[in-house]
Amino acid sequence: MSSRDHFTSRIGFILAAAGSAIGLGAIWKFPYMAGTNGGSVFILLFILCTIFIGLPILISEFMIGRRGQRDPINSFKEQAPGKPWYTVGWIGLIAAGLILSFYSVVGGWILSYLFRALTFSLTGKGLNFALLFNDLITNPWEAIFAQGTFMLLTLLIVQAGIKGGIEVASKWMMPLLFIFFILLFIRSITLDGAVEGIKFMFIPDWSYFNVDTLVLALGQAFFSLSLGVCAMITYASYLAKSEKIVNSAVNVAAMNIIISLLAGLVIFPAVFALDYSPEQGPGLVFIMIPAVFEQLPMGSILLIVFFILLLFATVTSSIALLEVVVAIGIGNKTQTRKKATWIFAIIIFVIGIPSALSFGLLSDLKILDKSIFDFVDYLTSGILLPIGALMISLFAGFHYSKKISREEMQSSPFIYWTWLIIVRFIAPIAILVILLNSVLG
Ligand code: TRP
Repeated sequence: MSSRDHFTSRIGFILAAAGSAIGLGAIWKFPYMAGTNGGSVFILLFILCTIFIGLPILISEFMIGRRGQRDPINSFKEQAPGKPWYTVGWIGLIAAGLILSFYSVVGGWILSYLFRALTFSLTGKGLNFALLFNDLITNPWEAIFAQGTFMLLTLLIVQAGIKGGIEVASKWMMPLLFIFFILLFIRSITLDGAVEGIKFMFIPDWSYFNVDTLVLALGQAFFSLSLGVCAMITYASYLAKSEKIVNSAVNVAAMNIIISLLAGLVIFPAVFALDYSPEQGPGLVFIMIPAVFEQLPMGSILLIVFFILLLFATVTSSIALLEVVVAIGIGNKTQTRKKATWIFAIIIFVIGIPSALSFGLLSDLKILDKSIFDFVDYLTSGILLPIGALMISLFAGFHYSKKISREEMQSSPFIYWTWLIIVRFIAPIAILVILLNSVLG
C-alpha cells in the first residue's frame, strides 16, 4: 500500500468526522424518537448514553483506526493476527449498508421537499403539512424515484472524487445551517403556547423510563455518532500520531448533542403551539419545519435555502456511509474501487426500495410488528450497532495493553482510567444487558 495521506490539520479531521456524524441522526431522527418516546426521559438517557458510552467508544474507534492506518478489516487482522476481531468489519459493512438503505429514503424526501419548495408549493395559508407529507410518502413512484435520485447523487459525488469539495463546502454550510436553527428556534419559542414544548423536553415524565426507551436512546447515541460500523476507525486511519484523540472525540460528541437539542428546541415548541402531535414518527421534522417557516417573513424563500443546507448535511453523511461499505468491501483491492462503488450503491438502492414503500404500498407488511422501514432501523440501531460497539469496546479495553492505550490517549491519568474502566466493564455490561433485554424481552 502506498503511503497514505494525512489530515493536515486537526480542524480538518474534526470537520470530516463531524460532517459524517452530524446529519439526519441529530436533525431528523432525534426529534421524532424523542417525540414518540415521551420527550424528556428519552433526551436525558440519550445525553447520558452519549457521554458515558458513546464518547469512550468514539475514543476507542479513533485509537484503533490511528494505530491501524488502513481499512478496518486489515487493521484488525494486522493488529490481532489469527484472531476473529476483524469480523467486526463485516458487521460494519452490513450495518452501514442497511443504514444507507433507509437513509437514502429520507434523503429522497429532502429532494422531494426541495423540489416543492422551489415551486413554492410548500407555502400558503391553511396548508395541512401532515397531509402533505402523507401524500408524498404514500406515492410509490415519487418515493422510489426520489430515493434513487438521492443514491445516484451520493454515488456520483463519491465517483467524481469531489467528495473533498463537498466537505470543504460544508465547512460554511454547516455553520449556516446552525444559524438557521437559531433563527427557527427564536421563532418557535416565541409562539403562543411554546412553553409546553420546553416542558415536554426537560421535565421528566418517569412513566417512560424503561428498557425500551434505554435501547432506543443508546441506539440513537451510536447512530448519531456514526459508531459501531467502523466509520470512525476509517477516518482515524488518516490521522497523524501527534493529534489528541480525546479532544477531537469530545468536540464531535458535544457538537452532536448541541445540534440534536437545537433541533428539538425548534420542533417541540412549535408542535405544541401550532397544535400538532409530537408522535408523528419519521415525518415529524418534515411536517414541522414548513409549519415554522410559514410563521416567518419570506418564509418560502428561506425554506428553499434551508432544504439546500439540510441536503448538504445529509449528503456528507451518505457519502461517508457509502465509503465505509466500499472501503470494507474491497479491502486492499483498490483497483476495483470504481466498479465496486456502483455495485454496492445499486444493491443498497434495491434493498432500500421496500423501506421506501413501507409507508404506502407495503404499509401492511409487518416484521416483528414493525413496518419494514422501522424494522431495518431497529435491526441496525437496536442490534448491529450495539454489537459492533461492544466488540470495539472490548478490543480497545483488553486487546491493547495499558501501555499502548495510555500512550495513544495522551491524557491525564484520571481521564485515562475512567476511559479504561468504561470500555472494559461499564460499556460492555451495559450494552449486553440492554441488548439481551431488548432481544429476549
Ligand atoms: N451519524 C449519521 C447521522 O446522524 C448516520 C450514520 C450512522 C453514519 N453511521 C454512519 C454516517 C457511518 C456516516 C458513517 O446522520
